Amino acid sequence: MLWPLKFMAKLTVRDVNVRGKRVFVRVDYNVPMEEKDGKMVITDVTRIKETLQTLDLLVQQGAKIILASHLGRPKGKREPTMSLRPVAEKLADMLGRNVAFVDDCIGEKVEKTAAILQPADILLLENLRFYPEEEANDAGFAEKLARPAEVYVNDAFGAAHRAHASTEGIARVVRARGGPCAAGLLMERELKFLGEELENPAKPFVVIIGGAKVSDKIKVVNRLIEKADTIIIGGAMAYTFKLAQGFKVGKSLVERDKTDVALAALENAKKRNVQFLLPVDNIIATPVDTGKLNKKGKPVFDLQNPRPHNDPSIPDDAEGLDIGPETVRKFSEVVLKAKTILWNGPMGMFEDPRFAEGTRTIAKAVAEATRKNGAKSILGGGDTVTAINTAGLGDQVTFMSTGGGASLEFLQGEALPGVAALSDK
Ligand code: 3PG
Ligand code: MG
Repeated sequence: MLWPLKFMAKLTVRDVNVRGKRVFVRVDYNVPMEEKDGKMVITDVTRIKETLQTLDLLVQQGAKIILASHLGRPKGKREPTMSLRPVAEKLADMLGRNVAFVDDCIGEKVEKTAAILQPADILLLENLRFYPEEEANDAGFAEKLARPAEVYVNDAFGAAHRAHASTEGIARVVRARGGPCAAGLLMERELKFLGEELENPAKPFVVIIGGAKVSDKIKVVNRLIEKADTIIIGGAMAYTFKLAQGFKVGKSLVERDKTDVALAALENAKKRNVQFLLPVDNIIATPVDTGKLNKKGKPVFDLQNPRPHNDPSIPDDAEGLDIGPETVRKFSEVVLKAKTILWNGPMGMFEDPRFAEGTRTIAKAVAEATRKNGAKSILGGGDTVTAINTAGLGDQVTFMSTGGGASLEFLQGEALPGVAALSDK
């Protein structure tokens, strides 16, 4: 079997009697935020919206709901810009009901507030990662988190690849006490689309992989070669493949130490008769050092003279930043014939409109295949979802995963600790 987990073998929130019980729900409210006039403002509510079904169900059933999440990477310290308080306000707006907030996730204040919750009340706790014990999956901390919980629900697919106290340790504590540990409805949906639906995909099954690094995606590519009819590679990672094939890549972003694994993947695809498509032309630009440094202390380059370059080799002084028009045409043609599409990673540096056309046109092709062809289109990774939403096509695909790293690890066949920790059916 390609995917190691028996998805439906885990208890779901539908299977549990939650009436009047305190239900600790781990969600992934790690949402993007921006500072505006000294206030943190949420810029994309997708991850909140996707949990509403679970929350509605729990409200209807009269559960006392305690929500917990991480936000950002505060490294075990209180970091005011990473407080979940703005999320409590947004969630209250979206639900049209009160959401209480406590500025801690363990301790007396939390336990007192949890104790007076009434059925259908909702309480959101402060950022779990303000404690280093969360990421360390500290047993004592997991025990403290579990104190108010009679039932544990994990709806945080995006964090299910982390074996942290709130995703793994706590489930062990609750289970040891005889409490049920169940998947939320979002978790269930994610496992269905990324798992079951890809188990026996309708053919042709076209996989589109993009993004910067071969090292991040190579395991997924190799795994999907076992299932796909066509693998399409775009984004900067394509240049490592091109380099491996002996083409010149100029100043493009490449991983020189990954050409061997790239070649091995190409060989693997060939052996299995899987069509493997790489860009045949590119949009290139000339990077010019501005002499300035960015926030991370890295030199900032001005990308001058963006232009299509109708040759698979890139000139020495230029950098490839998007797939070219001929590649767009070829990739789209294949996508339009697909019956199942899995897409993870943009085709170019789409955050700059000069290099967004490749990603935008592929997004259009994916939406069109879904609409006209009845193709199932499944998208993963934050950038891919941003790209399809930017193109205004978010509602025209079959499923968008809320997981970045989690969807990759799941697709490459790894068991997710946050899922493994749940009770069996
Ligand atoms: C994500 O955004 O990918 C998840 O919320 C997990 O966050 P992390 O990569 O900081 O663990
Ligand atoms: Mg991440």
